[in-house]
Amino acid sequence: MKIRGVILAGGNSSRLYPATKSFTKHFLTIYDKPLIYYPLSTLMLAGVKDVLLICKKNEVDLYKKLLGNGDFLGISISYEIQEQPKGIAEALFICKKFVSNNKFYLILGDNLFFGTLFSKILNDSQKLQSKSACFFISEVENPSEFGVLKYGKKNIPTAIIEKPKKRVSNKVVTGMYLYKPKVFKLLDKIKPSKRGEYEISSINNLLLKNNECKIIYLNRGFTWLDTGNPD
Ligand code: DAU
Repeated sequence: MKIRGVILAGGNSSRLYPATKSFTKHFLTIYDKPLIYYPLSTLMLAGVKDVLLICKKNEVDLYKKLLGNGDFLGISISYEIQEQPKGIAEALFICKKFVSNNKFYLILGDNLFFGTLFSKILNDSQKLQSKSACFFISEVENPSEFGVLKYGKKNIPTAIIEKPKKRVSNKVVTGMYLYKPKVFKLLDKIKPSKRGEYEISSINNLLLKNNECKIIYLNRGFTWLDTGNPD
């Protein structure tokens, strides 16, 4: 079974206005490379050779200009359009055909991972055995901006609360998820949230409640950044 990779790189980038008023945040430079290079290189480190990039219609030509068909990196990159930013879980509807019967990573285009033993961490994540998904968890000081893990007895994660107003924990679900294709069977069980989006946490909660998730903690020596706002 080959492992595939999906990058979700659409959205409006509105939290970064005016820097992203005329083009998506994924082209902003982080040190010496456009942001989109970072999730792409994470997938490559995980051994992914087939990548699907999902973006807005009016940006697909810009991505193609930058990344082409991936030949220059020794991988294959194809593209799909997300007509409206209807939520991260919509990527699962869009990538179904591309993924087919393979395991796949879904990574958010604005997530940057860097740390010791990352290659080993990614390798370990793929040993799913009876589990259907793997989530990567990081500790942060501002959990209310993310999907936050709630813990039950014996410190077992019981739910993911999306952007909670009250403190739940400081452990958040980062924007990279590994799934088996059976995740697609859950798609008809989710509905848009109050803000009108298909939340990735809705899918992930179903998996968590069925005890189908492997959890990997990104500990000391690891940096994870969600580059969604100027900080
Ligand atoms: O970064 C990790 C967090 O990402 C998780 O902890 C949260 O559970 C998850 O919901 C998500 O929260 P954000 O508020 O950071 O998501 P954001 O709307 O910033 O979108 C993340 C990326 O996905 C960004 O690169 C834009 C892209 N995107 C987003 C949406 C909603 C799309 O391409 N289409 C969309 O419809």
